[in-house]
Amino acid sequence: MKVLLIGSGGREHALAWKLAQSPKLTALYAAPGNPGIAEHAELASLDIDDHQAVVRFCRERAVDLVVVGPEAPLVAGLADVLRAEGIATFGPSAAAARLEGSKGFTKDLCSRYNIPTGAYRRFTDLAEAKAYVQQQGAPIVVKADGLAAGKGVTVAMTLDEALAAIDDCFDGAFGSAGAEVVVEAYLDGEEASFFCLSDGKTALALATAQDHKRVGDGDTGPNTGGMGAYSPAPVMTPEMVSRTMKEIIEPTIRGMAESGHPFTGVFFAGLMITAKGPELIEYNVRFGDPECQVLMMRLKSDLLELLHAAATETLDRVSASWSDDAALTVVMASKGYPGAYDKGTAIANLPATSAGEKIFHAGTALKDGRLVATGGRVLNVTATGRTVAEAQAGAYALVDRVEWESGFCRRDIGWQAIAREKN
Ligand code: AMP
Ligand code: GLY
Repeated sequence: MKVLLIGSGGREHALAWKLAQSPKLTALYAAPGNPGIAEHAELASLDIDDHQAVVRFCRERAVDLVVVGPEAPLVAGLADVLRAEGIATFGPSAAAARLEGSKGFTKDLCSRYNIPTGAYRRFTDLAEAKAYVQQQGAPIVVKADGLAAGKGVTVAMTLDEALAAIDDCFDGAFGSAGAEVVVEAYLDGEEASFFCLSDGKTALALATAQDHKRVGDGDTGPNTGGMGAYSPAPVMTPEMVSRTMKEIIEPTIRGMAESGHPFTGVFFAGLMITAKGPELIEYNVRFGDPECQVLMMRLKSDLLELLHAAATETLDRVSASWSDDAALTVVMASKGYPGAYDKGTAIANLPATSAGEKIFHAGTALKDGRLVATGGRVLNVTATGRTVAEAQAGAYALVDRVEWESGFCRRDIGWQAIAREKN
């Protein structure tokens, strides 16, 4: 099978690495890709915003499956264009990608299908939103409706913070994403991420993970795209997984199909495990980054077979098996991230890795034959172990062998799970 992978981050490097292990793979192309992905795929010089160019590329190379990594091309309708041309595509239509692209859309679906989530209201009027917040009191959560690069959510512990967040949204701090605001009840519990494939009618549970969004040790400092992750998430017991499938995922698949927009791709469900059980915080319609990296380290099955089954409505014929080992990834970022940072800093050396270790490239490029950092999050240094503690020790031993002056990382990825393991 010939596959085209869309994207250029650590998530796509992990997907490329795993796809490349498939005995069914005959060619792997990636656009735009990165130097890590180039170890497993032929990089295609292709403008992924030009959907017709992607179609032409697929025709010329007889591509059998397109795997779309990031959300932006999905929201832009790339999967619709490809499927309309008869090209099997892993990733939802633009209409189904609203599960990530519009928080209000998802909340309305939850309400129609009784999916457990925080009580909410949608607002397009500043005064009405403020009146509601005043009536509800803090803590309360204010969200810009649309995609705001992970920055549109304020978990307000005081009324003043909530009111300021509403002002920010309507003042255009998040651009058009903030033209509508969702105000939702604060959920108290432990967060976990759950991943599940869907072909539009069948669900196939993948695995669980937990990430660390704050930039600093001890979960302090500003939010980021994720400074590290591990899998599995201990809070997701088999009972919680089966409740999540039944109470959240299955009604979502049914709801999307009944609305005429069946969901093809991966659900990345952000959950809060509250005293009542799993509640949905949000959906993403793509693999998490860096959560995907730890999932791929633990996946024993053929990824190509799974993604192809999801893209061709044959998910009921496959199953996924997972290593019992834990996997943990540490994000190495450019000093300054998530604020301003220098671009193009030299990565002097990446250590060789053994089995159970892998360094994924998230934001790198080759400049005059030398590896440089191009993004905020640059490397995902990953290891497996029998426990999260062992995986953590392996990942940091590898981090310590990376020679990159301008990089930094958190030193405590996995701390909650390790604290649990000690008890
Ligand atoms: P989101 O962008 O929706 O994932 O929100 C970012 C983060 O805000 C989540 O990972 C949670 O930590 C937090 N959050 C979002 N919604 C709620 C909620 N209803 N209650 C408590 N925390 C929340
Ligand atoms: N790590 C969180 C995300 O991919 O959105």
